[in-house]
Amino acid sequence: MGKVYICDHPLIQHKLTFIRDENTTTKDFRELVDEVATLMAYEITREIPLETVQVRTPVTTAECRIISGRMLGLIPILRAGLGMVDGILKLVPAAKVGHIGLYRDPETLKPVEYYAKLPTDVQERELIVIDPMLATGGSANAAITALKQRGCRQIKLMCLIAAPEGVEAVQKEHPDIDIYVAAVDECLNDHGYIVPGLGDAGDRLFGTK
Ligand code: PRP
Ligand code: URA
Repeated sequence: MGKVYICDHPLIQHKLTFIRDENTTTKDFRELVDEVATLMAYEITREIPLETVQVRTPVTTAECRIISGRMLGLIPILRAGLGMVDGILKLVPAAKVGHIGLYRDPETLKPVEYYAKLPTDVQERELIVIDPMLATGGSANAAITALKQRGCRQIKLMCLIAAPEGVEAVQKEHPDIDIYVAAVDECLNDHGYIVPGLGDAGDRLFGTK
């Protein structure tokens, strides 16, 4: 069974409170999501393997450590996942970015894929699927399935807020996937929104409502 890591660093929790607040402006919401994405990237990259290299300092030669040629790929789910990409790239600027476009049909709440553009070597990369919201889990499951169908095997999921229903759905369909979240909330409401949540992440990021 995949693990669920709650990123409970005080800075993440503090910023998440303002992200939730309905009075937060689009500009501040976008900046806060970007900042939390950077902080969560610090947590999600904790296990990246290191290798030893020799460095000549002004004083002597030292054995030092660098990240061992690991190839990362960020896979934002359009649209709201876009809001977290730059924040992660600040820490891992060499990562490639692939996009998967999904929207939830408002009637069925089922994800519909409308776009996919991935790095050509995507199956060799360690991938982080990014979406602020894990609600029913349908979108995350569809994105992970789309990646697995293309031969990808090393996949993690990073979200800001998850509903217990979404966590359970991903763990059921993709038991090999670890999930990184800033919070697991109470439940979903009748419209598939996370309670208390933050509302519609895409609309709040892009000011479309
Ligand atoms: C939101 C969100 C997730 C999805 C989560 O996207 O960004 O992708 O819903 O819900 P689920 O877990 O029930 O699938 P939405 O479909 O609203 O599209 P958008 O990002 O284009 O606004
Ligand atoms: N998508 C959102 O943007 N918010 C939710 O609460 C659920 C799905």
